Order: sequence, then structure tokens, then C-alpha cells
Amino acid sequence: MASFDGRPKERTTPSAWTIRSPYRININRDDGDRRASSSNQPSTSTSTVDDDTQQEAPSKSMRTTRHTPAFLPNFVRTEPENASSSHKADGEQGPTQRLYNTLNPTYRFPCAADEVENKRQEHQHTAFSIVFRGLYPCPDAVRATLRDDGTAKAILDLGCGTGTWAIEMAREFPHATVLGVDIVPCTANPADIPSNCKFEIDDVNHGLDHFEEQFDLVHLRNLSMGLRNFRKTMEEVSKCLKPGGLAVFIEGDNELIHRDMVTVVPMAMLDHEIRKDSSVSGRSRSASGSWLQRYFHEISHAAQIQGSDWSSAAEAIDEGLWRMDMYDPESCGASSAFVPIGPWLKAPDETSTVHLQHVGSLMRTDMLSLLRAAQSLLLQVGVHQSMIDQWIASATYELKAEKFESFARFRVAWGRRKRPANSDSPDQSSTSLESQAPVTETYSIYDRIRPNCQPVTTYASRTESLMAKEARNSTKTKQPVPFVIELANKKVLTK
Ligand SMILES: C[S@@+](CC[C@H](N)C(=O)[O-])C[C@H]1O[C@@H](n2cnc3c(N)ncnc32)[C@H](O)[C@@H]1O
Repeated sequence: MASFDGRPKERTTPSAWTIRSPYRININRDDGDRRASSSNQPSTSTSTVDDDTQQEAPSKSMRTTRHTPAFLPNFVRTEPENASSSHKADGEQGPTQRLYNTLNPTYRFPCAADEVENKRQEHQHTAFSIVFRGLYPCPDAVRATLRDDGTAKAILDLGCGTGTWAIEMAREFPHATVLGVDIVPCTANPADIPSNCKFEIDDVNHGLDHFEEQFDLVHLRNLSMGLRNFRKTMEEVSKCLKPGGLAVFIEGDNELIHRDMVTVVPMAMLDHEIRKDSSVSGRSRSASGSWLQRYFHEISHAAQIQGSDWSSAAEAIDEGLWRMDMYDPESCGASSAFVPIGPWLKAPDETSTVHLQHVGSLMRTDMLSLLRAAQSLLLQVGVHQSMIDQWIASATYELKAEKFESFARFRVAWGRRKRPANSDSPDQSSTSLESQAPVTETYSIYDRIRPNCQPVTTYASRTESLMAKEARNSTKTKQPVPFVIELANKKVLTK
């Protein structure tokens, strides 16, 4: 099977960039600038990438940290309603105008071309790399899949963002080719992009048929906010795999987990909800709940209103790939990665404490940035700016004061595509349960919090994964109706 960049129906390109149809780029040669314009409307045309759509990589002498492709403006816009400086809470630093993608209206977070968002994604990537002790959460399966056995290996990263994961994988596996796909051009410095790494602009919602059976590894991390049907994408991913190829899905939970690694942190209540609830005194109710948790509750429902399938991604990953026809159940696994929010986690020795606190600080910075990143989504569903500012200020205070010692949980699921029954390909010797890396002093602290827990807790079966989910769900307090849903219902009623 031809590799992704050698397919006959697509022309190969010397550039690091390809823009896949239906997003055709028209180069305006008159102004002497290779400026492009694109259409937001998916085309029904089956035309393949045209020569004119190929962008040359800028010269390697451009040694800036980040790079602005000439056609970036056509894939990126500023949010008009963000132009006001009143959109920043007191003491907040950074630009007021954020950059958003123009291709996928479901994805309402700033894009990786936005400086602040780029940094946020980089912080999160570093935190993951520490917690996973590398670039991937299931090392045995990934290394077995990508081992250099003389055959061509190909890796696909869907929703590649800053491009850092793709670039680092290309360096770690120089014998493999890596393709990063995103709705906006990646702004990594071309000088930093290895020759075995390429990027493509495309919306995953338009399907992945063109990648059929081309990849050994497909990686999808925190993309669900921009997907309209997560389970459908999961199916499509399985078809992109060569027989025996591996899929890895990682998605953030939209719930904070207490330091016991099970209890879901209760959420703060809004004034009118406290007034309605006579069972608990208002003061204790608002004092005990988390504003960050409440913010997640609101943004996950706002995303749903906007057509995102973020919330069902969580369910789907907890269930794992065991029951999906395309995957070999013997090869499937799932895990929860618990990443501390803030530097509250302390280990018995100083080195480990520094290590864990570094991850915690990265995650807290990530969360602080995420609060403002989500405001466009909330504005879009009708929440007033002053209310958003109030929520952000409360969540910021909570994070900075370390009011809750909590973890962000990331759900992970992986599995291999089945091979045909008569296949004589060598078995890739991976089992569903990853061999646990030795527990270093750094991570033994997790053991003390909860026996046998590590930052990445692996579940050997679907049942085990669902039992862990049940245990978390049983700790949940009554969930308020999201404010954004109340707003949406009112709109419906007043129509
Ligand atoms: C939260 S970021 C995660 C980036 C990267 N995967 C990581 O974990 O660092 C989500 C990325 O997915 C991209 N994205 C969102 N919807 C998409 C879609 N439908 N197709 C392709 N990319 C999409 C966004 O532009 C953004 O770069």
C-alpha cells in the first residue's frame, strides 16, 4: 500500500505543506505575494490538490521561533467581539485580539496560530510528555508498531495544533514519515521541521476516506471539541490504519478529580441556584464548590450547542475500543492520566517534588489560559461578557490560591486494527496491559495517595475501565442545569 505522500491520486510536494481539497487555495500572483484565499464551503468536487495549491516552505534562513505562512490569514480570523479590552479581567496579561480558525465553526477555541493558545498547547504537551514519560501513553504498543524492520512506517496526527508532537515523533522515528493534519497551518519554524514530517490543512469532519489503510499509527489528542461526531471519527480512524496498525485516542475529561483520584470535585452554584436550593445554606454551597469545575460544565454544554461532540468523546474513550469491530480486542487498552493542577503534590524527596510541581505549574498555567480561550464559545451562546469575566475571576482566584487540590484527568484508549485471518505478518507482540514502567521515586507519591495508582492508571479490560467510571460517577453531587442550557431554552421559549 502506498504511503500517504506517495498516493497516485495526489501529487507529491517538496513543501512541508499540502492543502487538501475541498479547501482550495487561490494564489494571487499580482501583488507579488503568495497570498491565498480559501472557501469555507466544502466543495463537492473530487479534484485533487492542484500545483497552485502547493506552498513553498519559507527559506531555512528564517530562524524565528514561530513562522507565519503567507496564506495564514485566510485560515485565521480575529474574533470581532474580542476586540474590546473589557474582555480582559483585571491584571490579565496578553493580547485582547485572539485568532480563530475560519474552516470549522464548531471549533471555537483560538487556533495554534494565536500566540497565547500556542503557548498553552506547548505547556500541555510538556506536561503530557512528563506524565507519559515520553510522547505516547502506551509505549510498548507504539514501539512495537513503529520498530524499524525495513518496511515503510507512517504516522498520522489528527488535529496536530502546534505541530510539536508530529515533529518530535519524526525525530524519534526517523525511519517513519509523519503527517500532521489541522484546520489551520502549523506555525512551527520550517527549520525545525524534519524532512520526514509534513503538514496538511483539512477538516477531519469531512471524512478520512482518502487515508484508507495508509498508517501504522494514528494519534488523536484533544481534538473532540472540533468534531461533530466523535464515534464516527473513531470508525474512520480505524479505516486509516493498515492491518495491525495502532490507534491512540486521548481526550481531556471535563471534570476535575479530587486528590483521592476518584471523587469528582463539586461545582460552584450561581446565585439564583443557591436561592432556589433551600436544603443547603447559600454560603456553604458556594464556598464548597469549584468555579473551575462550573466553568468546564458550562463550556462543555456550550460546545454541544455549537455542534461539538466533546461530551460523547469522554464516554466513548472510557468504553475503549474493545467492542469496535475493526479492532483486535486482545490489543486494546485504556487508561486515565491524572495531571495535578497547580504545584500542590508533594513527594518525599525534593527532586521528585520539583518534578511533580513543575507538571502541576504547567497544568495550572494551561488552565488559566484555557479560561479566556473559552470565552468566545460562551459569548457565542449568549452569556454576557460581565458574567464570563466574573466566572473567570473566581476560577482564577481559586487556581492561584490552590483552593482545591485536584487533578485534570485525561482519558486514553488504544487498539490495533485486526489483521485478515490468513495474514502471515509477524505479530506485534503487544498485550492489552502495557508493561508498567518501573515506579520511580517521583511517581511513588501517587501510590501513597491511592494504592497502585500512578499518574497513568491502566485498565486491562472494558469492565475495569467502566468500573472506574462508575466509582467516579457515584461521587458526583447534584449537577445544576447549565446556565448556557437555561439561556438556550429561554431563547426557544421566547421565539
Ligand atoms: C486542543 S488542540 C490540541 C492540539 C494537539 N493535538 C495537542 O494535543 O497538543 C485541538 C486542535 O485540533 C484542531 N482541530 C479542531 N477541529 C478540527 C477538525 N475538525 N479537523 C482538524 N483539526 C481540527 C484545532 O485547530 C487545534 O489545533
